[in-house]
Amino acid sequence: MVNMIQDCNIGFIGLGVMGKNLALNLADHGYRVAGFDLDTKKVEDVLSSEIAERPTDVEKARIIGCDSLKEMLDHLATPRVIVLLVPAGQPVDDVCQNLIQAGLEPNDIVVDCGNSQWTDTIRREAEYKHQLKFFGTAVSGGEVGARFGPSLMPGGDAESWQYLKPMWEAVSAKVDEDGKPIETRTPGKPIFDGEPCTAYLGPNGAGHYVKMVHNGIEYADMQLICEAYHLLRSILGYSPKQIGKLFEKWNQGVLNSYLVEITADILQQDDIKTGEPLVDLILDSAGQKGTGRWTAISATQMGVPAGIISEAVYSRALSTLTSQRYQAASTLVGITDLADVNAEHVEASIHDALYSAKICAYAQGFQIMRAAQAEYDWKLNFVDIAKIWRGGCIIRASFLQKIADAFTEEPELDNLLLSDYFADQLEERQVGLRNSVVLAAQSGIPAPTFFSALAYFDGYRSEVLPANLLQAQRDYFGAHTYERADSARGEKFHTHWQQEGRPETQVK
Ligand code: 6PG
Repeated sequence: MVNMIQDCNIGFIGLGVMGKNLALNLADHGYRVAGFDLDTKKVEDVLSSEIAERPTDVEKARIIGCDSLKEMLDHLATPRVIVLLVPAGQPVDDVCQNLIQAGLEPNDIVVDCGNSQWTDTIRREAEYKHQLKFFGTAVSGGEVGARFGPSLMPGGDAESWQYLKPMWEAVSAKVDEDGKPIETRTPGKPIFDGEPCTAYLGPNGAGHYVKMVHNGIEYADMQLICEAYHLLRSILGYSPKQIGKLFEKWNQGVLNSYLVEITADILQQDDIKTGEPLVDLILDSAGQKGTGRWTAISATQMGVPAGIISEAVYSRALSTLTSQRYQAASTLVGITDLADVNAEHVEASIHDALYSAKICAYAQGFQIMRAAQAEYDWKLNFVDIAKIWRGGCIIRASFLQKIADAFTEEPELDNLLLSDYFADQLEERQVGLRNSVVLAAQSGIPAPTFFSALAYFDGYRSEVLPANLLQAQRDYFGAHTYERADSARGEKFHTHWQQEGRPETQVK
């Protein structure tokens, strides 16, 4: 029998790239980690990384490799905290069952750090409540983020959070007093100062829901950047390197963000085999794991207009229809004459289009979360959410500080676009979005998220929409009734459209 030595603070199941890096990050912050993976090579890998990073200090091993779940449980102080970094879906349930069999106790906390669907997290918290405390924490920032400071989005029972809080605050990314990320890439030299990019978001699936919306925004942001690139390339004939340099410049201003920064870098890379721009050799067929689609579905189910996010999902889907696109390219005639333009003017327009559309995309993300709180009985703190996205995560961007400020000023703000700051920004920059949409349409270049952003902006600010006609159509063919603009809300009417005199009746 293994002795209960309880010499570790936290257990890790799943030592793939994310698990390994998060475990090393915790170890850097002074936590002792017991790690387990079905693949023993992964256990060996994390142990050798630990030795490679701290060759002079190996006797004080901060990470212990375990051969079984039982051994891992015996290493953990109680209540035990066990992080799962296994693929979302059935593997999470399998591991929970195995842990229960291995002797996990009801007060022990199992933290799912994968990209799980929030409804699974809600279900698991209820399903396992007599056997363990199931807690969700979504992680953003990829492998570098996990190693040196991710954005962590925790959701679960408040009591468990008290155990996790010091660890999560220690390992998450940090921002300085101006809200700027404090960058580090040095193993063994963690950052202790600054505001941590983590905050308790609410019970059950709140953390995974917020991360899902983060990814929906990520899809939109990425697609918007791709459309800006496509327009600059097609209309101005710029090379990838030129666009990379331009994005580098843009990254110094209001567009400052991780995604613009990495895009600038990507566009300046040449293929090592051919010397051609690497981006030109990458097949234009986009992958997706599902989180953007879940965001669009959730928005649609709740009736929240989130067209930019949905368009970003559709754009990826359309890109995958490669053989149909090749066929259609020679069959469907569009416009091939590019507009005669002034390069400086086009650059400025696309810059402002990207910024305006980005504001609209983030506004949609926050609207989705506002609707979800009513649906799931959460009380999401939008200031905290904007703040924990300022560092570590993929959508980190300077303007998240402005979003945090807007919600600080008015916590019940219905839509970011209504805040003084963003209303002013859009008043000033929308011309660029309009010009870019016109240019794209006139040149036959697809820019679906730019188009959608403009339609959202114009739709949202319209006092009058043609939905009156739509209601009439519904009533005409289906007697679905309508409300009258000159009657109290909630009073329903039906016109007998096909009867003589078209009488209208009030419907009780
Ligand atoms: C993050 C990323 C991460 C992952 C996406 C990729 O925040 O670190 O969002 O979660 O890169 O899941 O998603 P797609 O494969 O769907 O693009």
